[in-house]
Amino acid sequence: MNEKSAHTVWHPVTVTRQERERSNNHRGLVIWFTGLSGSGKSTLAQATEAKLFETGLHTYTLDGDNIRHGLCADLGFSNEDRIENIRRIGEVARLLVDAGVIVLAAFISPFQSDRQRVRNLVDPGTFFEIYCNCSLEICEQRDVKGLYRKARAGQIPNFTGISSPYEPPRSPELNLDTGRLDISSCVDRIVTEIQPRILLQ
Ligand code: ADX
Repeated sequence: MNEKSAHTVWHPVTVTRQERERSNNHRGLVIWFTGLSGSGKSTLAQATEAKLFETGLHTYTLDGDNIRHGLCADLGFSNEDRIENIRRIGEVARLLVDAGVIVLAAFISPFQSDRQRVRNLVDPGTFFEIYCNCSLEICEQRDVKGLYRKARAGQIPNFTGISSPYEPPRSPELNLDTGRLDISSCVDRIVTEIQPRILLQ
């Protein structure tokens, strides 16, 4: 606990995570998409959520660009700010899992240690990491948002892959070659992989 919140006392909950999960009829889970800008994280998170939601599951997507319009609007792209960004998202994801929700989180999350910290926040087996494995060359070629061009022109400092590092996951639950695979085959892979993990014991 932070020194600033020293005089607070944890209040016991009346409705537990287990009760919420039983009511939802599935477990909560964090599906964490990491990868370079333009590697397909948001597209896959949205498409996967749509497929899961359709079947009656309780889902929610947290997306880097969107969250930076609100909860993290005060943060930039220095290492320090990215660390704080992922820390906040980790806490939000933890709350949502506690509410019995399947959280789809799409963030560059360039640092291994930050992703590990989020993994450690939730119960074992509750963090499913997906590496959207698309080379810088392909992301830059696609340049959907035109940001790589601006970064190369020196208009965006600390741009991931160009002037700021990206540490690929060492052992993600799923390593998707998003440079080659199409969206629907990626979504099918993800849904197949997560199905056994959301079953109630
Ligand atoms: S993270 O590094 O802190 O995890 P996050 O996923 O929230 O990043 O935000 C990344 C998005 O912000 C990118 O998809 C891109 O649209 C935008 N962006 C703006 N500036 C940068 C930058 N310097 N580096 C990377 N992405 C940037």
